[in-house]
Amino acid sequence: MSSDYGKHYSVQRREVLKFFSESLGDRSVGPTYLDLTFGAGGHTTSILKEIPNSFVYAVDQDIEAINNGETKLKELDLTDRCKLLKMNFSEFEEYYKSSLSDEGVKFDGILMDLGVSSHQFDQISRGFSFRESAELDMRMDGTNDQIQTAKDLVNELDEEELANVIFEYGEERYSRRIAKAIVEKREEAEIVDTKTLEDIVFHCYPKKDRFKKIHPATKTFQALRIAVNHELEVLATASEFLPNFLAPGGRLAIISFHSLEDRIVKRSFKKRVLEDKAHFKILTKRPLMAEEDEVSENPRSRSAKMRVLEKL
Ligand SMILES: C[S@@+](CC[C@H](N)C(=O)[O-])C[C@H]1O[C@@H](n2cnc3c(N)ncnc32)[C@H](O)[C@@H]1O
Repeated sequence: MSSDYGKHYSVQRREVLKFFSESLGDRSVGPTYLDLTFGAGGHTTSILKEIPNSFVYAVDQDIEAINNGETKLKELDLTDRCKLLKMNFSEFEEYYKSSLSDEGVKFDGILMDLGVSSHQFDQISRGFSFRESAELDMRMDGTNDQIQTAKDLVNELDEEELANVIFEYGEERYSRRIAKAIVEKREEAEIVDTKTLEDIVFHCYPKKDRFKKIHPATKTFQALRIAVNHELEVLATASEFLPNFLAPGGRLAIISFHSLEDRIVKRSFKKRVLEDKAHFKILTKRPLMAEEDEVSENPRSRSAKMRVLEKL
């Protein structure tokens, strides 16, 4: 597997740094951060470089991201200011209780930059993209055999379950038609690769809609990715417990990329403030979007929405 993490662009980097550094006040000596979606390490290394004496705990469930991170931190001479942890961020509460709470660690900033990294997406063998043919996999934790892959879901869910996944997680209006076509196709032979699935979905779209700006298979692939990685469940779990780990004045920033995620973040922040007005405040009445200059450099940032919760 190739491991080119070279050309990486961290979404809303400026805004994250602003939120994390402006709240420090007098506590600018030795602030501690938690980056739950390390990826190519763009946000983590920016924090380490630009916030003096900072320390970052960084989490990723993808072993390739962790291995690449170790090399990168060494090259940048930042190893002693960052601890890399390979885990699903939904497991962080357990880790915190067993390894950090006794030391009284609290975070001045916690970041989640959700979704797949461009590295994962561009690595054809991971099966996230339908640009070229690859086995339908889509596990972000690519070495975990306990997780059902996209191939498992496509071949094993019944027609109604498939339609529901594609409708709920992909907001795909042709979900029933697509599920039916998948079931018909797999009766002939197991559906194994991305191109076969792309072709099935493509032909479920009316002819007039097949060549629009967004490819017909995009929503179905998004839906399967979300289902494979349980993305909404782990986000809901983590956004409940993360505010508990903030230091006074600390901020939890979550960057999401579609309305399903943003809705979960919005609701969990509101709920926390309702339950505990004395200790929490939402800093972003509306989600913060990327600036035009960022969008023109990195089109993926167009759909980014950042929400920030502060511990008072
Ligand atoms: C969009 S990338 C992050 C990019 C990073 N902020 C940077 O600047 O390089 C998202 C990363 O989060 C990881 N990730 C997504 N969901 C996760 C989860 N539930 N637990 C742990 N890591 C997760 C993915 O494996 C991926 O590497």
